[in-house]
Amino acid sequence: MRTAGRLASELLDYLTPHVLPGVTTNQIDKLAHDYMTQVQHTVPATLGYQPPGYTPYPKSLCTSLNHVVCHGIPNDKAMKKGDIVNIDVTVIKDGWHGDSSRMFMVGDVSIQAKRLCKLTYDAMWHGIARVKPGARLGDIGFAIQRFTESQGFSVVREFCGHGIGRVFHEEPQVLHYGKAGTLDELHPGMTFTIEPMVNAGRKEITDGPGKDGWTIVTKDRSLSAQWEHTVLVTETGYEVLTLSAGSPATPDFVPAQR
Ligand code: MF3
Ligand code: CO
Ligand code: CO
Repeated sequence: MRTAGRLASELLDYLTPHVLPGVTTNQIDKLAHDYMTQVQHTVPATLGYQPPGYTPYPKSLCTSLNHVVCHGIPNDKAMKKGDIVNIDVTVIKDGWHGDSSRMFMVGDVSIQAKRLCKLTYDAMWHGIARVKPGARLGDIGFAIQRFTESQGFSVVREFCGHGIGRVFHEEPQVLHYGKAGTLDELHPGMTFTIEPMVNAGRKEITDGPGKDGWTIVTKDRSLSAQWEHTVLVTETGYEVLTLSAGSPATPDFVPAQR
């Protein structure tokens, strides 16, 4: 899991300089596919992925722009200055999954868009900072929701973090909202993702207008952001597995792990 996590993060590092105005999300997808299969010798977990009730996902990553909440499918449209985009990658190495996503700003973006991206990053870390043996899943969701709503933004309810390992999505569900002290207790050795989706406007979502079976957008068409890490519960706290040289710094409010 450590290796898979590092490789997922290194893939995001590799893609970073390519996220520019004029570049299409299909170009990003091709770069990612080639890097995974030819350089990392990893398998793109999303390619052909088909949960019950879905059509097979057609690409090697997800690109969710602006009001797209998650699962945006790469296409031939060029990104433009002012866009914000979430790139979500999942690699499989020797059967183990590493799942991570970051926000990217395409050229200069609005102050509001910048604020949303930073706040969502901090929201994810408020959740991560709660992870330790004996804590409960509800502690994570509570911390994320309290912080996000205190800033006047909203947390998407329909999608959550998930257990991950040899299986891409497994138990438990990791809600990004909730009540402290509730739900499953955390134990050393558990691996799961924390991946809050935060909307600048209302929390409600809907299917994308293209009806492609995957793309989810905000109902009010407000901007949405998401960050994702895969984390391990250790004997004393947590270890973030999806880190690499290009990972953004941990926020100052997060106590150091030992
Ligand atoms: N990587 C996403 C997650 O964080 C799942 C994408 S599934 C896909 O769980 F099929 F849409 F790619
Ligand atoms: Co995930
Ligand atoms: Co993901």
